[in-house]
Amino acid sequence: MTVILWAVLGYLLGSVPFGVLITKALGLGDLRQIGSGNIGATNVLRTGNKGAALATLVLDGGKGAAAALLARAFGADDLAVQVAGLAAFAGHCFPVWLKFKGGKGVATFLGLMLALSWPIGLLCCLTWLAAAALSRISSVGALAAAAGGPIWMILLGRTDMVVTGVLLAALIWWRHSANLARLRAGTEPRIGKK
Ligand code: G3P
Repeated sequence: MTVILWAVLGYLLGSVPFGVLITKALGLGDLRQIGSGNIGATNVLRTGNKGAALATLVLDGGKGAAAALLARAFGADDLAVQVAGLAAFAGHCFPVWLKFKGGKGVATFLGLMLALSWPIGLLCCLTWLAAAALSRISSVGALAAAAGGPIWMILLGRTDMVVTGVLLAALIWWRHSANLARLRAGTEPRIGKK
């Protein structure tokens, strides 16, 4: 019962589309009609407003972290905490408010990792930064960070998180299908480019 409750609460929290709300509030247009059409911070950056992109990154990450931290603060067991986080991730990717057409979940994944285990979260963020810095492509950072999650979990002895990590990695890679096709075609835009 508790698990279902936290799944619902996590989903509702994760389904708040901060990127869409922030760009609309600032009069930057409909994010779904800009750049890749994605609702995440990378695409907000394509509006040229760095502050809006940063706010989207922090809030999208924050909702993943908040779902898990709230569940933990209210005494939920480890399974319910991870389910709350997974549900927040699902909420971002399939938000009821946007007819289930949401984002790719990268910031929400990073926030969730930081909340579940800050060393693993930090390593995932560093993996994102290193891969993005080398490639200058946001999706390359995301794909590397997602794939790195389960590896860091095993190396740091958090085998209890591996199923969650593998699920998140698989979903992030699936949500990046269009990016993978552009990467193969050599047409994926560099960070900050339209
Ligand atoms: O976090 C999303 C990023 O990996 C790709 O975003 O807009 O380039 O598809 P975008």
